[in-house]
Amino acid sequence: MTTTILAIESSCDETAVAILRYDGKQSHILSSEISSQIDIHREFGGVVPELASRNHSLHLRPLIDLALKNAALNIDDIDAFGATAGPGLASSLLVGNTTAKALSIATGKPFISVNHMEGHLLSPFLSSAKIESNLALIVSGGHTMLIHMKAFRHYKLLGSTRDDAAGEAYDKVGKMLGLPYPGGPEIEKQARQGSATAFQFPRSMIKDGLGFSFSGLKTAVLYQLEKLSPDTGQAPQDAVPDLCASFQQAVIDILVHKTMKAADQAGEKLVTLSGGVSCNLALREAMQQACKACGKQLLIAPPHLSTDNAAMIAFVALQYELAGIHSDIKEDINPNLALVH
Ligand code: KG4
Ligand code: ZN
Repeated sequence: MTTTILAIESSCDETAVAILRYDGKQSHILSSEISSQIDIHREFGGVVPELASRNHSLHLRPLIDLALKNAALNIDDIDAFGATAGPGLASSLLVGNTTAKALSIATGKPFISVNHMEGHLLSPFLSSAKIESNLALIVSGGHTMLIHMKAFRHYKLLGSTRDDAAGEAYDKVGKMLGLPYPGGPEIEKQARQGSATAFQFPRSMIKDGLGFSFSGLKTAVLYQLEKLSPDTGQAPQDAVPDLCASFQQAVIDILVHKTMKAADQAGEKLVTLSGGVSCNLALREAMQQACKACGKQLLIAPPHLSTDNAAMIAFVALQYELAGIHSDIKEDINPNLALVH
């Protein structure tokens, strides 16, 4: 028996539609389409909610048609419709969520409401036959979370950030340094040309439990910038690679240290890494080395499934469908939807 899911992701600035088919053993991405709005928001230095929701409305219908065409299916072949319900921007969430509900009503097939963070959390298992117990680090633009995942729907939050998320810190530091939005990939690029030991930035809270704090690190970069260029506060171009490399090293040191500590505390041999920041090659390599040194296995989704996409939302919807859990059509979006309480 096969199960085919169509899912929509529209929580922030990517409109995405994916079709996933489960063949009884494993899931296969039949199509995964993304219409990125990064170029639209770049001139404003961040996401403008009003523009985001308008563009979701414009792009969603053609993207659904394209996803069906590329999967060589029509709408009646879909067994259930999934959509992100939160967390995210209310006006953006509404577009994808309402569309999936409309498709569900029109076809008489179930609707499944999906937590965006559960999408990231499960994404490393998209091509696995089975979801296994693991210690997960989710690092996205809005969240930094350490979760002990015993099984699907059995999640325990071990640590999160008390201020900025890791991706948010990347984006804010990128802005300070005059780099284009989003700062994460730009900082990674610049860091490749710089020295990670050029500046000594703080590893905030590295010894304190499993919580994170990145705002002190961000302020330390700002002070360093003011020191380097007291008049303008703008980074001298030749210092940007060193600033990026030193900042990135501090972020990686904190993330890797806390993840290993959490994995030990949870007694987990398998570590997973997900969320947009997990695209970062330096972070992937550092985490891989640390896991190897501690005798742990590391599982990360490929980069195109680490940043926001609909395949990860379809994968979560599939797990709920397989468990026989559907959502009420009246279930609303929730911009602050929590993954664990
Ligand atoms: O998961 P995601 O696509 O969206 C959210 O759910 O937030 O994550 C976006 C975040 C942004 O902050 C972006 O700067 C960061 O992921 N990011 C990166 C890289 N690629 C994306 N951060 C560091 N290095 C990267 N290569
Ligand atoms: Zn995300």
